[in-house]
Amino acid sequence: MAAMSYARSTLFSKPALLFRSFTFSLTCSSFSTSSALSAHSSRRQKWRQPVVSALDLGGVKIAKDDVVRDDPTNNVPDTIYAKLGLQLHRRDQHPLGILKNAIFDYFDTIYANKFDKFDNLCPIVSVKANFDDVLVPPDHVSRSYNDTYYVDSQTVLRCHTSAHQAELLRKGHTHFLVTGDVYRRDSIDSTHYPVFHQMEGVRVFSPDEWETSGLDGTLYAASDLKKCLEGLARHLFGAVEMRWIDTYFPFTDPSFELEIYFQEKWLEVLGCGVTEQEILRRSGKTDNVAWAFGLGLERLAMVLFDIPDIRLFWSSDERFTSQFVKGQLGVKFKPFSKFPPCYKDMSFWINDSFTENNLCEIVRGVAGDLAEEVQLIDNFTNKKGMTSHCYRIAYRSMERSLTDEEINELQWNVRDQVEKKLNVVLR
Ligand code: DAH
Repeated sequence: MAAMSYARSTLFSKPALLFRSFTFSLTCSSFSTSSALSAHSSRRQKWRQPVVSALDLGGVKIAKDDVVRDDPTNNVPDTIYAKLGLQLHRRDQHPLGILKNAIFDYFDTIYANKFDKFDNLCPIVSVKANFDDVLVPPDHVSRSYNDTYYVDSQTVLRCHTSAHQAELLRKGHTHFLVTGDVYRRDSIDSTHYPVFHQMEGVRVFSPDEWETSGLDGTLYAASDLKKCLEGLARHLFGAVEMRWIDTYFPFTDPSFELEIYFQEKWLEVLGCGVTEQEILRRSGKTDNVAWAFGLGLERLAMVLFDIPDIRLFWSSDERFTSQFVKGQLGVKFKPFSKFPPCYKDMSFWINDSFTENNLCEIVRGVAGDLAEEVQLIDNFTNKKGMTSHCYRIAYRSMERSLTDEEINELQWNVRDQVEKKLNVVLR
């Protein structure tokens, strides 16, 4: 896809791809069938001492060991736990909050405040809500431990805001927007970060709305959807050229992506479509038709505010945070300085369970936001069938110069952990 130069494109726009191999494989047959954390943590609160570090997410108290456990069904590292509850999208002076509010303004104006808004729903959800309820096939790659953070075999950190569609439909909401932090195991570069933010929109129609139009329900919803989202793109980007691309999502049919021509490139703005009838049927809306869309806030904010690296959204450096003003969309970010990167290469013989996501998790675990990029620069298989990978790791701080000593120490740590945790042979 040509338009994928900014932040991530959707993980769901491909039909079921079989899982790649992954290290945290689900092999035991004796998993407890725990429910999503909301239920299970409130049960625990009764006998547990209050935990000082507990977070309050969407009204649910969460302690670290609710989320991070030394258990084969859990692959959430401390670094990810540390992001839970930061809720950048709820800060009015943060680019993500400013963008969210600008989208809210559009919907409030066009639909006279009819859309219910949710931006504080707990990111810890059941596998059912995240995948089954939105018809993600059982063998879809997004369900793998390599791609998604599992709290236990039945509970994940949501990997998209679509995880809330079915529940809100069941509760009777017919017009709603859900904004939240979403979590995906991924590679490391300037547009990928394991936590990012999405907004989901859903609108349900009743038969009288399309019957008078003479169109069938699906066509009516699709044309309303396109009109609505073209208006949104103009509201955010001005008078830009746009195009619609047919695509695939498990939850919609037909499905589309909207692209805009911006700064001399086609940029994918969002995914959307007419909601699968099965999702509506299961939520008791047999006679209705609906549309849905999902968009990545970082992806759009990076172009709207000229933010060159996705790590900056997490910066608490005043030279970053002070540049943005509540209600002002599109203030251009002025880089306060550019510190030099430092590159370190490492080569090793991989094994069958090696994945780049697992490597990146280790690098982030050691270097945190100092890890700017992890890139495969060499790859070969010898006569004995052993495959070697060479990765180049770029370390760079957004805020200061790094010393050689500091970087060497990080690199030794990375090497050590890669050898131990990934069982590869360093060369
Ligand atoms: N959930 C999708 C993703 O994260 C985005 C999306 C696409 C949401 C189409 C929707 C939709 O509601 O209709 O990649």
